[in-house]
Amino acid sequence: MLTRSELSKQVEEHVIPLCVPEIRGNEWTYVKECLDTNWVSSVGPFVDRFERMVGNYVGTKYAVATMNGTAALHVALLVAGVQPDDEVLVSTLSFIAPANAIRYVGAWPVFVDAEPDYWQMDPEKVKEFLAEGCRWRNGALYNQHTGRRIKAILPVHILGHPCDLDPILACARKYNLVVIEDVAESLGARYKGRKVGQLGDISCLSFNGNKIVTAGGGGMVLTGNEAWARRAKYLTVQAEDDALSRIHQEIGYNYRLTNLQAAIGCAQLERLDEYIVAKRQIATAYRRAFERISNMIVPQEAPWAFSIYWLYTVLMDGIEGEDHSRRIAKCLLSSGIQARLLWQPLHLSPAHRGAYACSCDVAERIFNSALSLPSSVGLSATDQDRVIQRLREIAENEWKVV
Ligand SMILES: Cc1ncc(COP(=O)(O)O)c(C=O)c1O
Repeated sequence: MLTRSELSKQVEEHVIPLCVPEIRGNEWTYVKECLDTNWVSSVGPFVDRFERMVGNYVGTKYAVATMNGTAALHVALLVAGVQPDDEVLVSTLSFIAPANAIRYVGAWPVFVDAEPDYWQMDPEKVKEFLAEGCRWRNGALYNQHTGRRIKAILPVHILGHPCDLDPILACARKYNLVVIEDVAESLGARYKGRKVGQLGDISCLSFNGNKIVTAGGGGMVLTGNEAWARRAKYLTVQAEDDALSRIHQEIGYNYRLTNLQAAIGCAQLERLDEYIVAKRQIATAYRRAFERISNMIVPQEAPWAFSIYWLYTVLMDGIEGEDHSRRIAKCLLSSGIQARLLWQPLHLSPAHRGAYACSCDVAERIFNSALSLPSSVGLSATDQDRVIQRLREIAENEWKVV
């Protein structure tokens, strides 16, 4: 055992971060190219290249870069025709960005529970709500509880694992709804052999610093619909009709990615497959270490899924007392290990009071017991061992932490 002063020295020296970027490719070269050529702002060859690379990688014909993933979601909702006072079904167990973007267009989220096996949007709950909670009127579907029109479904592929999309897509076809995939946490993940992001009508990515590949910040709208792609691009450049005469027919946004960011993004994307291998190795090591520890549930990969294990998250199950994830996270932090709780399910979020929610008890159970562990692509075996050892010690002490 380390003494307290040894421990605090170690903590001071080296905190194992939750999920940080890995810069090991052409980032310096490409950024230098931007600086040398003066292409540093929101137009430039790297922006075009990044869009082509991401579109080719995911398998969508069109890709439009944005300044972040939230902007991508906002634009995707606009081009998908979501109107003020419409409703969009969205995963309750998700980072808040997709629900916020729904509000940006004046529409409302309808929160859908997670399924218990892989923690993704529950297709059964989607089916049930659309069949039993909604009614057709004048060729459109309306939520019986709120009277609002249902326009779209926004499944969020959380933590690197895909949602079970086929039944969600079938519902969308049946009720004439648009499917907007949020792929921010799952770039490279596959559903029945196909990359997520190419399966819905339109999809969104984030290149925030904690994602599997980063552009420092950035996002992307992906679609196979040419008219939608053109409109997405138009909206991200202040809806400028004509660069010469400088006329704007409608209100647009300044949402473009810079060439500097895209340069980093291109370099990162060149390494994506390598990074996915690293994430899966990290996941395998955690699973082997934890799967036999009682009170710990490790994440499962569905038979139809290929997960990129973006953020390795375990559930602390059946531990006595309250707030154990928070207490364990604090304890890990005091040992120099960053761990994090999962997002508060959005149906409980004060920011989204007023939105309709189906019953979401699975998401609440997951949230109450989830703990995300260090998962950076560059996590060394030594650091991962330290995380594993510390958690084993806590488990051996019957999860009693102060
Ligand atoms: C699921 C999900 N959607 C959207 C976003 C928003 O992306 P950004 O931070 O680039 O705006 C994030 C995270 O950042 C996310 O995790």
